[in-house]
Amino acid sequence: MSLILGIETSCDETAAAVVENGRTLRSSVVASQFDAHEKYGGVVPELASREHLRAIVPVVRRAMEKAGVGWADLAAVAVTRGPGLIGSLLVGITYAKSLCFVRRLPLIGVNHIEGHIHAVLLESGDVPFPALALVVSGGHTHLFATDSGVTYRLLGKTRDDAAGEAFDKVGKLLGFGYPGGPVIDKLAVYGNPRAVKFPFARMKGNALDFSFSGLKTAVLRWVQAHGMAEEIALRKRLARPTVEEWLQATPQATLDLLASFQYTVVEELLRHAAACAETFDARSLIVSGGVACNSALRAAAARAQLPFPVFFPSVALSTDNAAMIAAAAFPKFERGEFADYTLEPQASLSLA
Ligand code: KG4
Ligand code: ZN
Repeated sequence: MSLILGIETSCDETAAAVVENGRTLRSSVVASQFDAHEKYGGVVPELASREHLRAIVPVVRRAMEKAGVGWADLAAVAVTRGPGLIGSLLVGITYAKSLCFVRRLPLIGVNHIEGHIHAVLLESGDVPFPALALVVSGGHTHLFATDSGVTYRLLGKTRDDAAGEAFDKVGKLLGFGYPGGPVIDKLAVYGNPRAVKFPFARMKGNALDFSFSGLKTAVLRWVQAHGMAEEIALRKRLARPTVEEWLQATPQATLDLLASFQYTVVEELLRHAAACAETFDARSLIVSGGVACNSALRAAAARAQLPFPVFFPSVALSTDNAAMIAAAAFPKFERGEFADYTLEPQASLSLA
């Protein structure tokens, strides 16, 4: 039995988890920094590093306690080495290195995007390979082909905004605060997804690349043309409203706009998966990252009649967590792929 402690500090969650043999979740602790960043309407990198410093020790301690293990039980420590905010990554990496030095444990560096893919492999052990993997989060929109979850070939990525970033920018523009994805998901069910016809992005060159900035601009134009300043200002004054309170402050036309925006993002994502199905001999599709929480995306994927099954992580493991880092580290542990103390954070580390 090999227990790996995973540590994740790439953005605005301080997370630690213990995973057994890459498959059995023993504990997963995530400390959100939402309160620290909320009033700025987005993640403030310098604040994020300081919050990680504050949280890292209690979060790791709690993950070890919940798993019921001691330092001597660990086989290795895995840490996110990138991509992400450099100062935030540095906190996790420095802490992991110190732990390994003091406890004489091997250190494993993990790519955050690979972690998102392994969240699915951790929970659904029987994913058939070769697989397509769509990672959709606040920072990434990447489509990969993978033979076994060890090596990856990049098929397409966003040329501008990530899918989650589009949700966040539209949410902020319309006065729904940050992050926009979860609120839009909850409110879009009350709107008509066919009410506003947004165009799909047409890509020159690699047709499997994504683009969401045109859609974001189309929403902005719609807002400017419909004189929405008053309702947006009203929503901005609400303090942590419930869904009912959001609904009271949101006219039907705006709910239709949200539903239409979300519909366009979901179609854009699934259109790419369907296009891959024609070209690649894939036996499954893995969808992961924060946007994989989206209920319309999950429902549309189930309806899409793709020629392979689609696997999502549970909602808890879709957004950033450390269980996915510990799970992705296990195959590296088995291969003896260890890092040394020169391991450094890489803000724009790529996977393929
Ligand atoms: O994976 P994640 O926690 O962090 C990154 O690696 O970026 O993803 C966060 C992103 C945010 O952009 C957030 O708006 C989006 O995931 N998100 C959602 C939903 N829940 C989170 N987007 C759409 N629908 C959701 N239910
Ligand atoms: Zn992420």
